[in-house]
Amino acid sequence: MRAPLPVILDVDTGVDDACAILLAGMHPAIDLRAVTCVGGNAPLADVVRNTLTVLDVLGRPDVPVAAGADRPLLEAPADARHVHGADGMGDLGRPFSTRTPDPRHAVELLRDLLRAAAAERRPITLIPLAPLTTIALLLRTYPDVAPGIARILFMGGSAATGNATASAEFNVFHDPEAAAIVLGACGQLDIPVTMYGLDVFYQPVVTRAEAEDLIAHDPTGPAGLGGALIDFQCRRFASPAATIGDAGAVCAAIDPDGLDTTRLPVRVELAGRYTRGRTIVDHRDTGLDLAHDPHGPADVLVDVACAVAADRYATLWRTTIRGGR
Ligand code: RIB
Ligand code: CA
Repeated sequence: MRAPLPVILDVDTGVDDACAILLAGMHPAIDLRAVTCVGGNAPLADVVRNTLTVLDVLGRPDVPVAAGADRPLLEAPADARHVHGADGMGDLGRPFSTRTPDPRHAVELLRDLLRAAAAERRPITLIPLAPLTTIALLLRTYPDVAPGIARILFMGGSAATGNATASAEFNVFHDPEAAAIVLGACGQLDIPVTMYGLDVFYQPVVTRAEAEDLIAHDPTGPAGLGGALIDFQCRRFASPAATIGDAGAVCAAIDPDGLDTTRLPVRVELAGRYTRGRTIVDHRDTGLDLAHDPHGPADVLVDVACAVAADRYATLWRTTIRGGR
């Protein structure tokens, strides 16, 4: 059995971010070192409160939580409470955490943990599941942390469609400059990067009946919270099943063989009126002569997720939060 994988999540909790935190906080293959928060699905203060609440349900007061950027680098702040509920986490009416977050800004917490990881030669897998604002600030402010990062495995972007707009996925659309900075920094600092995008994001799903089983199994514990989060989505979208969303990216860290990726050049559109925030994935043959192409090749190669073992990941999530049973 290999040593647990050191992981830090960056979240905008968020119904599906909460699903991801449940999995990362319970699975024995993950050594959850910290969770950092950024404004996105909900305002930053709500994201911090929701994140602490999920960790309380998990009984994980040992996992530090820090607040990061409260707004995009350039874009005006916006949220997705029309998707995630007024409180950002499904309006479940459960008691919120009273724990206070780490006093450090998320960039400083990440700096400290990643520098220590580099010194220990145990680099951390960074799993951003939200707008990339904090991660961009980190890599621009403290590029020396790169040796402490094993890989950035981010939920965001897509090779084909959008959700926030016809072109762009929410996390990248929320802060396109941040996404461009992070991808550029991965290229410049030789940080391996995987894009868990919309091409796979919606496929691992849990049914309403499975959600009800989770709730019945342990109403006030992790299973009950996970079931309630899935049930909220099923009700909101009048659907018999709902995606585990961000939790799929954590599944990819636990079970990488369940995700097919292709290494492709990727850049972020910043200027297009209808395409701003789109991840431009270059599927062209790498042997092609690009002398005619005024844009030239993108300067970063990304492992783009193109297929996922959806049922395997959904089962991994369900059985883990159910306590392995
Ligand atoms: O586009 C999906 C992403 O946007 C997910 O991370 C979801 O939580 C929202 O933040
Ligand atoms: Ca998210």
